[in-house]
Amino acid sequence: MSSTPNNSSSAAARVRSTLAFRLTAAYSLVGLLLLLLATAGLYTVLRIELDRSTDLFLADKLHVLRTLLRERPDDLDGLREEIELESAARRYQQFYIRLLDEHGVPVLTTPGMTEQLDLAELVSRTRGHPEHLVSMTGRNGQAFRVTSATAAVSAAPAQIDTIEIAIDVAQEEGLLRRYRFWFWTILLATAILFPLVGYRIARHGIRPIEEIAATARRITSANLRERIRAEGYPSELASLAETFNEMVVRLEGSFEQISRFTADIAHDLRTPINNIRGEAEVALARARTVEEYRDVLESSLEESVRLSDLIGDLLFLARAESPLTDLHRQPVNVGELLSAVREYYEATASDGGVSLIAADSREPITAALDRPMMLRAVSNLVSNAIAHTPRGGSITLAASAADAEIWIHVSDTGAGIPTEALPRVFDRFFRVDASRSRASAGTTSGGSASGGTGLGLAIVQSIMTLHGGSAAIASQPGRGTCVTLRMPLL
Ligand SMILES: Nc1ncnc2c1ncn2[C@@H]1O[C@H](COP(=O)(O)OP(=O)(O)O)[C@@H](O)[C@H]1O
Ligand SMILES: [Mg+2]
Repeated sequence: MSSTPNNSSSAAARVRSTLAFRLTAAYSLVGLLLLLLATAGLYTVLRIELDRSTDLFLADKLHVLRTLLRERPDDLDGLREEIELESAARRYQQFYIRLLDEHGVPVLTTPGMTEQLDLAELVSRTRGHPEHLVSMTGRNGQAFRVTSATAAVSAAPAQIDTIEIAIDVAQEEGLLRRYRFWFWTILLATAILFPLVGYRIARHGIRPIEEIAATARRITSANLRERIRAEGYPSELASLAETFNEMVVRLEGSFEQISRFTADIAHDLRTPINNIRGEAEVALARARTVEEYRDVLESSLEESVRLSDLIGDLLFLARAESPLTDLHRQPVNVGELLSAVREYYEATASDGGVSLIAADSREPITAALDRPMMLRAVSNLVSNAIAHTPRGGSITLAASAADAEIWIHVSDTGAGIPTEALPRVFDRFFRVDASRSRASAGTTSGGSASGGTGLGLAIVQSIMTLHGGSAAIASQPGRGTCVTLRMPLL
C-alpha cells in the first residue's frame, strides 16, 4: 500500500542524483545569485546618483538665493517675483522656497507650498541639521527632499534668517519604483528560464556519456563489433570514447585469439586420439599376429606420449599466464645451465650430424632465475634448432651480460624462417609448415615425427615474460636462425 509514495520518493531521489539535475541546479543558483547581485548593485548606484543630483540641485538653489539676497538686500518684491517665476516655469522637478526672519516668522513663501507640505513638520524635521537634506512625505503622499539653512547675509531684507527649500522628487521615486518592478519581474522570469535552458544544455552535454553507456550495454562476447561514433563529441568525451573503442578492439582480439586457440587445441587433441582409435579398430577387425598387436600398441604409446606432452604444454602455458604464478628464483650459473642443455641434446644432435657448441663466456655469469623454467626455455630453442638444421650444420649456445641484463643466444645454421612467418612464430600453435605436418600427423603411421605442436616458442616467451624479460628472433631463410633471450640480471 505504501509502495506508491516510496516509489515516487525514490524516483525523485534518482532524479536528484543525476548529473543533469546537479549541473542545472548549480547553474541556476549561481546564475540567479549573480543576477541578483548585479541588479541590486546597479539599483543602489542609481539611487545614490539620483540623490546626489537632487542634493546638487538644492545646493545650487541655496547658492543662488544667497547671492540674490546679498546683491539686492532691499528688493523683497523683486526676489519673490524671481522665485515664483522660476518655480512656476518648472513642470517636473517642482520646488518650493520659504524665507523666515530671525523669529521664525515667514517673510516669503512660494505659492502652493503650504498646500503641499506640513511646514511645522518640515521645521521640526530639519531643526538642528543645517544644510542637511531630509526625506519627507507631502500632504498628498508625494516624496520630497527638504533642507533648512541660514541665509548667512546680515543685511538681508527684513532680517531674513532662514531659508527653507523643498523639492518634489516624485519623478525619481517613480523611476526607482519602476526599476524595482522590472527587477523582480526579470528575476522571476530568469528563475523559471534558467533551470529550463540549463537542463537542456546539461542533457545535451552528457548525451555522449549515455551513448557510451548504451554501446557498452550492447557489447557481449558475441557482439564485439560495436564502436562508439564520437563525431561532434567534446574532446574529453571523444578521448573517453576512443579509449573505450581501443579497449573493445583489444577485447575483440583476445576473444578471437581464445576461440582460435580453442579450435587449435581441439584439433591437436583429436588427431592423436583418432589415430589410436583408427589403429585399434583396424587391428580388431580380424585376428592378428603378436607382432601386429605389438606394432599397434607401440603406435598407441607414441600417440599417448604426444597427447600427454601437448596437455603438459597447455597446462604449463595456462599456469605461466596466471597472475598468481610465482617464480622460484635461485642463483643460477648461466654457463653451467647452457652446458647442461648441451649435454642433454648432444646425442640427438650427433645423430642428426649437427654439432652442438656451448661457447664459454669470458667470466661466469650468475643470475637469480627459475632454473627448471630456464632449462625448459633453452631446451625448446635447441630442439627447434636441431629440428631445422640439416646434417653438417652447427648450433651455438652463448651467454653475455651487460648493463644489468643478461642475454642468451641460440643460433643455428639451419633452414631459417620465411620473413612473412617471422612475426607469428611466437603465437600459440603457429608452425611454419603447419599444413604439411598436420597432414602427416593425420596419417595412421604416427606423424608426430615432424615435431611439436607449435607451443614451444609460446612457452619460451611466457617464461621470459615471467622473468621480466623478452624473447626475440632473427632469421635468414637458407642461412640460419638466432633466438635471443633477454632478462634483467637481478
Ligand atoms: N631454429 C629454427 N629454425 C627454423 N625454423 C624455426 C626455428 N625455430 C622455430 N622455427 C619455426 O617456428 C615454428 C614454431 O616453433 P615452436 O613454437 O617451437 O613450434 P614447434 O617446434 O612445435 O613447431 C616452427 O614450426 C618452425 O617452423
Ligand atoms: Mg618447438
